[in-house]
Amino acid sequence: MSLLLHKTEFGNTSNAGRIWTKEECNTLLVEWVQNPKLRQHMDQVGHLMEQWAVKREGLDKTTANAWYMAGVLHDADWDQWPDQHCKKIIEYLEAQEIDPTVIRAIASHGPRHFGVVPETRMDQMLYALDELSGLIHAYSLLRPQGYEGMEVSGVKKRLKEKTFAANVSREEIDEACTIANVTKEELIQFVIQELSNLHK
Ligand SMILES: [Fe+2]
Ligand SMILES: [Fe+2]
Repeated sequence: MSLLLHKTEFGNTSNAGRIWTKEECNTLLVEWVQNPKLRQHMDQVGHLMEQWAVKREGLDKTTANAWYMAGVLHDADWDQWPDQHCKKIIEYLEAQEIDPTVIRAIASHGPRHFGVVPETRMDQMLYALDELSGLIHAYSLLRPQGYEGMEVSGVKKRLKEKTFAANVSREEIDEACTIANVTKEELIQFVIQELSNLHK
């Protein structure tokens, strides 16, 4: 089954600035996502995107909210329409006349699956934070103290263990870091810090 989108343009530039509030994002997710683990993953990626936008890119609140929206909605259609992932959410957001930068970031969150190259900073960071946070969260579930006291070296060991969270592609993590021009260490450190804040 192919998830290739065969598209490189998303949304309409005349909708620039049309971003949902967190409450509006939540309304869609309550309707579309029943799986609590998937919902938690999306909340994590939304949080990571927002925090990266503010702390690492120095972006304003409105733009950081666009990053949040791309993060929190990126897998919105996975629960009910896995064979239409992420075509379904893209078409829905296009119909809702959402800012095209948000739609583009969602469309490029898995370049090997959807065939859309991450180009903007938002695209690149969504790709980088998505898979890596999945692996780090799986690691936190194995640790009695969860995120507390987690170290970069521990995550790197798990990355080398091919059987651990085997569905998380190490190649994609490496590729995403290269595209985003961040080191794996920096990204791991950021994810540990921010997810431990989120789950406090
Ligand atoms: Fe996805
Ligand atoms: Fe994801």
